[in-house]
Amino acid sequence: MADAQRAKIVGIGAALPQKVLTNADFEKFIETSDEWITQRTGIKERRVASEGETTATLAVEASRVALKNAGFEPTDLDLIICCTVTPEMPFPATACFVQAQLGATGVPAFDIIAACSGFLYGLTTACKYIETGMYRRILVIGADTLSRVTDYTDRGSCILFGDGAGAVVLEATTEPNKGVIYNVMHADGTGWDFIHVPGGGSRTPATHKSVDDGMHFVKMRGRDVYKFAVEKMQWLLGDCMSKCGLSTDDVAMVIPHQVNVRIIASATEKYNFPLEKVYMNIERFGNTSAASIPVALDEAWRLGRIKTGDTIMLVAFGAGLTWAGSVIKL
Ligand code: UT7
Repeated sequence: MADAQRAKIVGIGAALPQKVLTNADFEKFIETSDEWITQRTGIKERRVASEGETTATLAVEASRVALKNAGFEPTDLDLIICCTVTPEMPFPATACFVQAQLGATGVPAFDIIAACSGFLYGLTTACKYIETGMYRRILVIGADTLSRVTDYTDRGSCILFGDGAGAVVLEATTEPNKGVIYNVMHADGTGWDFIHVPGGGSRTPATHKSVDDGMHFVKMRGRDVYKFAVEKMQWLLGDCMSKCGLSTDDVAMVIPHQVNVRIIASATEKYNFPLEKVYMNIERFGNTSAASIPVALDEAWRLGRIKTGDTIMLVAFGAGLTWAGSVIKL
């Protein structure tokens, strides 16, 4: 019998805006301090999009790098999935803008909305298209410009967010012990209000009043998100290891959603992951939502912190509420 077909990562890329917003910058316009932000979150600075930079432009830049690393032309793709909660506009899909800018005419393209879990929802979806044999080559992008929906007068949330994009090219493989070996996704919509943008949709269409009331900005219940995050990250790590028969020693690197150093540490300590096995770049980029995991994946790969043959675990949670995990043999 032929070996089962799996999705393997054959190219990774990332794009981050040039503009840097440091903790010292926040001290100039809200009541906060570098010390508070560093202690409570681990963040020192984040990147924010300048005029002319958008979710799609960052997504295209990351995708071009991923395609180049894979040695593919855009027209070699069978599908483009863009995971974002800060789309180019309510519709059409940001993936369609990316498809057009890449010149991948005819290639199907759609978006996935799962906030910070978005990239792993997208990865899982892509894996299933490959495993069923429908498609062989898929571009999965995580891209967000949260700065465009951040209320910079709300000190409880604005210090967390940054912009960026990361992308992977997946290709079908039948090589044993290679590729994405496990995916898990969950959601609990009863927690929709833990973190959300209330305005601009069907429930509260844009009006002068909705804009004046700041309904187009992220609203977040920080403490509640914190508790949910620790619980779900711990659960995901345990689930991924038990379903794949892995111990802490078998895992070369955990790449978690870059959310908060304290959340990541509480979750990974439970399974005794030493810090060198937990990839973090939150200090430099903050929480970039769907871009967080692919940006970290790209950096870890380029720096040689992960390599061919390694087993890695990706875990994320986000608005929805959503949570998801993947195990990959590189
Ligand atoms: O992808 C999901 C995105 N969201 C998250 O990941 C959020 C998860 N939650 C968190 O990361 C943390 O809850 C925060 C970093 C948002 C807040 O940290 P915390 O330790 O939970 O602080 P807190 O909300 O309990 O606030 C403690 C104090 C409050 O003052 P009082 O009431 O004790 O006087 C806040 O007003 O800290 C105050 N505070 C700040 N102080 C200085 C809140 N934000 C700031 C700030 N600078 N930026």
